[in-house]
Amino acid sequence: MIRPDHKEALSSPIFKIVSDAAHELGLTCYVIGGFVRDHFLDRGTPKDIDIVAVGNGIDLAEKVASRLQNKPQVSVFKNFGTAMIKHGNIELEFVGARKESYHRDSRKPVVEDGTLEDDQKRRDFTINALALSLNRGDYGNLLDPFDGMGDLEKKVIRTPLEPDITYSDDPLRMMRAIRFATQLNFEIELKSLQAITANKERIKIVSKERIVDELHKILASPKPSKGFALLHKTELLPFILPELIALQGIEEIEGQRHKDNFWHTLEVVDNIAETTDNLWLRWAALLHDIGKAPTKKFHKKIGWTFHGHEFVGSKMVYKLFKRLRMPLNDKMKYVQKMVLMSSRPQILSEDFVTDSAVRRLVFDAGEYVDDLMTLCEADITTKNPKRQKKYKNNFKLVRQKIVEVEERDHIRNFQPPISGEEIMETFSLKPSREIGIIKDAIKEAILEGEIPNEYDAAKKYMLKKGKELGL
Ligand code: CTP
Repeated sequence: MIRPDHKEALSSPIFKIVSDAAHELGLTCYVIGGFVRDHFLDRGTPKDIDIVAVGNGIDLAEKVASRLQNKPQVSVFKNFGTAMIKHGNIELEFVGARKESYHRDSRKPVVEDGTLEDDQKRRDFTINALALSLNRGDYGNLLDPFDGMGDLEKKVIRTPLEPDITYSDDPLRMMRAIRFATQLNFEIELKSLQAITANKERIKIVSKERIVDELHKILASPKPSKGFALLHKTELLPFILPELIALQGIEEIEGQRHKDNFWHTLEVVDNIAETTDNLWLRWAALLHDIGKAPTKKFHKKIGWTFHGHEFVGSKMVYKLFKRLRMPLNDKMKYVQKMVLMSSRPQILSEDFVTDSAVRRLVFDAGEYVDDLMTLCEADITTKNPKRQKKYKNNFKLVRQKIVEVEERDHIRNFQPPISGEEIMETFSLKPSREIGIIKDAIKEAILEGEIPNEYDAAKKYMLKKGKELGL
């Protein structure tokens, strides 16, 4: 539903201040872009407001700042002819209207002054070219030369100019088109889709950081599969995530088929998006099967196997993060861990669930055991209702068992009940291999359920183990 009244978009006092500043400078200015689009779509409180001035945007920013009570600092980006002021939680971005064309090999624009319509034409999408006047004569009027309102109604992503020009001017827009389509559940018009495919190679001049920003936004959307399917359809995906493309396809040998792990992965991502907003868990869902392409094998007797794909996949996570210049920090390690452990609860649930298997799972997954269960539940994509129910029930049992075992044994953030120092003192040992052996034996005995996770029992066990080692 589109909000009917656009006058209320400008109810914040800041717009009056900008309007007065522009009047004093004798220039005209407009609110444009995401703020206007999101107002009509009723998408909650805005983070930033873009203001375009027909004239010098930096002068306008300075005039506005001088009229604000707290006299905020103006950050000026001279090369781009833009300026920014922080106003409460909101960033006000000022830019002079421009007729711009871009350098062919970079995303840096060549700036030339222009009219409002010149500027609107050079924007990415009709829905982002909507402008509201801040001028005294027609304050609050909507200026929409490319029928952006019609596209908001029809839920269409369309470029103001020939799409080929818009996308080749700034190839990041190819990612933006797909991201907006996913976030807003809009369709990209056919001409635009074709232009993206034709310009796909130009994604190479876009920085990895900007690409990843868009991927984050696609993944954070309610139905991320839409974005990845579009990246696939437009042939951008091989440039960005070749590991996913490698999962596509079904092979058949001697009547034995395996599932298409690319489309399966997209289903898993949609499933997980329904249960968690944790972006990194969503990344883990996207990457959980990437080790399947390099480990796929056909065996005459057992059919298709993907032995060790979790381990190979977790190694691939590191390379993928590195290539995309994503952080190689605890987030990456978390995704690796989820990928590495992604089959564990399933193996466990297929069998009779023993306490010790559950203790080992909780020990290895640590504080992330719930996230791991969420990932495994999202991984159920069978269309057979009977099997679907069975798998869900199995995981429910595993979850129950985790709670029971945790209440009793406190394995989640396991701290050895006997310290290395105590072992050294008891047996008058210097730092040596024996200490590790005893510590490990105690841990194993707890995980196996031979002894409870308690100090007295562990001490007794330590003394017994020491004897066996002849200490
Ligand atoms: N814009 C553009 N081409 C780009 C990036 C931005 O034409 N590659 C224009 C669009 O008019 C856009 C405005 O600049 O609306 C502001 O860009 P930005 O703040 O990145 O995006 P928003 O549209 O505000 O949306 P969001 O905050 O969701 O990214």
